[in-house]
Amino acid sequence: MKHLRLAELLKQPKKYDNVTVQGWVRTFRANRFIALNDGSTIENLQCVVDFENTDDLILKKINTGAAVKISGQLVESMGKGQSIEVLVKTLQIIGEADPELYPIQPKKHSFEYLREKAHLRIRTATFGAVMRIRSVLSFAIHQFFQDKGFYYVHTPIITGSDAEGAGEMFRVSVLDPKNPPTDDNGAIDFKQDFFGKETKLTVSGQLEAETFAQGLGNVYTFGPTFRAENSNTSRHLAEFWMIEPEMAFYDLADNMDLAEEFIKYTLNYILEKCDKDLTFLDQRLEQEEKTKPQNQRSPMGLIEKIKFVVENEFKRVSYTEAIDILKNSKPNKKKKFNYLVEEWGTDLQSEHERYLVEQHFNAPVILFDYPAKIKAFYMRMNEDQKTVRAMDILFPGIGEIVGGSQREERLDVLEQRIKVMGIDAEELWWYLDLRRFGSTPHSGFGLGFDRLVLFATGMSNIRDVIPFPRTPQNASF
Ligand code: 4AD
Ligand code: MG
Repeated sequence: MKHLRLAELLKQPKKYDNVTVQGWVRTFRANRFIALNDGSTIENLQCVVDFENTDDLILKKINTGAAVKISGQLVESMGKGQSIEVLVKTLQIIGEADPELYPIQPKKHSFEYLREKAHLRIRTATFGAVMRIRSVLSFAIHQFFQDKGFYYVHTPIITGSDAEGAGEMFRVSVLDPKNPPTDDNGAIDFKQDFFGKETKLTVSGQLEAETFAQGLGNVYTFGPTFRAENSNTSRHLAEFWMIEPEMAFYDLADNMDLAEEFIKYTLNYILEKCDKDLTFLDQRLEQEEKTKPQNQRSPMGLIEKIKFVVENEFKRVSYTEAIDILKNSKPNKKKKFNYLVEEWGTDLQSEHERYLVEQHFNAPVILFDYPAKIKAFYMRMNEDQKTVRAMDILFPGIGEIVGGSQREERLDVLEQRIKVMGIDAEELWWYLDLRRFGSTPHSGFGLGFDRLVLFATGMSNIRDVIPFPRTPQNASF
């Protein structure tokens, strides 16, 4: 008999059919009721064991976490909570799980505890739901861009250039750290390293994506990026996934339109495809919210929040307007912000971003035209010579989810910026070539995939939406 995965079986259950299923025992109640899950869906299948006619040795092995193969008849269920169940005819223990040792018991474990058991946490209902949504979301991303005629480009992971200019890169080297070769000045001689130069893990695929946009027109990357910033927050990872579209002949307004359409498409996609997982996570969040003091509870449920983003226009506000709003805001006047907003030109902290999104506008916000001083070298300079054509999208509960810009396509202006910012122009010779030959106005952005998953699942820590998080002092598994 063919073994059916639960998602398939539960879609069109044919009563009185004989079925074979395989999965892991979530719970075993009263020596009789197995809640079986095989990962294909959030739903468990109740399997009813005829304990009087089952070997005691087998009954003892039906423990949470054990892998089993069950054949039996699908019948209407008398009990509450499920419409069908399987009357077990044969039950085979495929892989035992010693209840004294198995770390995931049928009780509430904290997410902190489960992070230490990241190799097994996928067997819990919450992580199953989160990771299925993560998978569907990545598919939605490809679907969106492929439908629009964008080409997928694989940009390199190992690079010599610091695209963001923040100097927060991990070195890639095969030199002996105890005894590296040195040059005449006593500095480490990377000429003798694997690539004959100093190399790092990339912080962004943007610069290489730009080369492809100048040939294929519209492209996107979707890959891992790495940042050695020592940010121990619930929204930062040292290894995270980023989607970076890059479009020739797009200006900043086109860029914002695309980003907004893109985010709405992917969120709508999961509303359509992930109903059961979202409903489960919605209920989970509701329970969690109840443990918080009244004034800290989110006014919206998870699905409500996602729908709100899909159905409402993002507010577009210039940095300068935002600074005015913040300067005159209650928390600024009452000195409630940790960083008071005093003058034009300062970078916004996440408390400011969240004030704008959650208190002032009560909607996702696209902030644009930032001061050049606080943004990367490649952003297009405005006429005022003070601001650049940057845009960040800010989300409720998350803060910055997208960072992007129109790119500087004028060779002389770009060279000047590189100089002013003290960046090594030699490493960027090929990037400058794009401005020498057939340069076009063009734009792009980066969406932090893990932050999108965070928003879409209502989880509160980014470490709980990526399979194996890499953060300062932590690279287990
Ligand atoms: O704003 P960022 O640094 O922009 C870039 O890297 C550009 N090269 C993108 C482009 O224009 N092609 O990063 C983009 C997004 C952020 O808005 C945020 O969502 C996410 O990447 N991000 C992180 N996510 C998790 N952990 C981190 N440490 C992140 N740093 C940035
Ligand atoms: Mg940014």
